[in-house]
Amino acid sequence: MKTILTGDRPTGRLHLGHYFGSLENRVKMQYDYDTYILIADVQALTDNFNNPEKVRQNVKELALDYLAAGIDPKQAHIYIQSLIPEVAELTVYFSNLVTVPRLYRNPTTKYEIQQKQAVFGKEGEGITYGFLGYPVSQTADIACVNSNIVPVGDDQLPHIEQAREILRKFNSIYGETFNIPEPCLSSTPRIKGLDGNEKMSKSLNNCIYLSDDEETISKKVMSAVTDPNKIRKDDPANPDVCMVYYYHKLIRNPNISTVCSECKNGERGCVYCKRELVRALMEFLRPIQERRKYYEDKPELVEEILKEGTEATKKKAEEVMKRVRENMKLDYFE
Ligand code: TRP
Repeated sequence: MKTILTGDRPTGRLHLGHYFGSLENRVKMQYDYDTYILIADVQALTDNFNNPEKVRQNVKELALDYLAAGIDPKQAHIYIQSLIPEVAELTVYFSNLVTVPRLYRNPTTKYEIQQKQAVFGKEGEGITYGFLGYPVSQTADIACVNSNIVPVGDDQLPHIEQAREILRKFNSIYGETFNIPEPCLSSTPRIKGLDGNEKMSKSLNNCIYLSDDEETISKKVMSAVTDPNKIRKDDPANPDVCMVYYYHKLIRNPNISTVCSECKNGERGCVYCKRELVRALMEFLRPIQERRKYYEDKPELVEEILKEGTEATKKKAEEVMKRVRENMKLDYFE
């Protein structure tokens, strides 16, 4: 059975961008693969080292979001990254196999550096060793369970490419040890925001969270961007430039062809169309929110799930490390 590894940083609640970008895929794939889902608390600290409370709090939230989205703890191991010390060890070994300029060339890292500089100025906080190296630690996440497949959103592709380079290099120096992982993108690897921005993102404040209630969603949807040329409610409009239509499509509203033709013919007003979207979204989110509630009421169960997932991952990581130490001639006293 092939192995999947993927995960998220515990820095906030998950939204529809996460869901359609990757979570939905993970939920489908968990039945056919040995599945590891990591809560990347160590990686979250690279940006939040001065805010450990935030990371701690969000570990719980992320676990709840995973379970709510349909990750089945009988199928998948949900685990906490910091409890797998093998990842820290592998990170050190891998750090010899990548140059500093190569880390700077990673497009996602580059973009994140620009964002930091926009906020803190060029002199700002500076780029830490930990931040620049997080793709190396991410390679260790993938390698510690010798994963074959990594289901992610498209911003993570440069990290997977970097992981492949490091692991190929490892294999060529120390002998065949690791699988070379393949990324797996969903059919919608990037979800637009309600404001029409190309990306739904917490920092852009344009997200619908999986745990948003009806009132919150209603407010957000009412402010969504529609065709600017449509002034009166019976003007014909172009659904292809409308975020409301985009979301009807995204959540696969069975009514979609009616929505489209009525919009084009000037037979539906935007407010009506938005109300219909709010209903459809609540319908879509209902099973997710019901599962969240179920687990929210059982914190010991969630803790048990994380413990079991972490133990299973640790066991697998120990097997992998045994081979790594042999191949690197570090297997003293055995
Ligand atoms: N970088 C990912 C994010 O920001 C989280 C992550 C950490 C990850 N390690 C990983 C994803 C390994 C895939 C594989 O959400």
